[in-house]
Amino acid sequence: MQMMRILSITGLIFLTGLFSFLWSGLYPMGADDHHTPPVYWALETLREHSVSRASKSIVIPALDDPGLLLSGGPDYNEMCAICHMKPGKSESDLSLGLYPAPPNLTVRHEGHNSPEQDFWVIKHGIKASGMPAWGLTHDDQRIWAMVAFLEKLPDLTQLQYQILTARTSTDDEHGH
Ligand code: HEC
Repeated sequence: MQMMRILSITGLIFLTGLFSFLWSGLYPMGADDHHTPPVYWALETLREHSVSRASKSIVIPALDDPGLLLSGGPDYNEMCAICHMKPGKSESDLSLGLYPAPPNLTVRHEGHNSPEQDFWVIKHGIKASGMPAWGLTHDDQRIWAMVAFLEKLPDLTQLQYQILTARTSTDDEHGH
């Protein structure tokens, strides 16, 4: 009985503190002011586990299909490169100004996403970040084409990138 009382008083004090903090306006929300390490860690953990769980049952098509690669390149260049870079370019106003910062997808980093995780992120976007949900306006085939292109992107030279992202006149029916 005594224990229950202590527990509920502690809980009440904790909740009052939490709500006072939320209402106080003390937490800085500017994108030019970074999260404290514990907040950053919590948000990162939330995102990683959420994406990994949500993408678990996605079936990956044959990503080495040259058709996929060729149609993904122009889309990437037009819709993604401004935030996620291209060979020979390592920053833009958006990559510097957004927080969380868009990762540079032209370099392979440790803990790199699997193709099904990339597919899920491109289709659904990431809440409270600059990453839009492209699935609202693009079908799965087009998103897989960009995933196929992302798999190759870190290995491309500037010239290869230029060739693979050029839009040919037969692409025009894709439209935007
Ligand atoms: C306006 C900027 C912006 C644009 C345009 C954009 N993204 Fe993103 N993207 C982001 C941000 C910011 C993140 C990181 C979100 C986070 O860390 O919570 C992200 C994350 C990602 C990730 C996850 C990477 C990882 O390692 O976790 C992938 C994959 C991705 N974007 C692909 C794309 C593709 C493909 C396109 C084009 C169709 C695109 N993005 C367009 C801002 C953008």
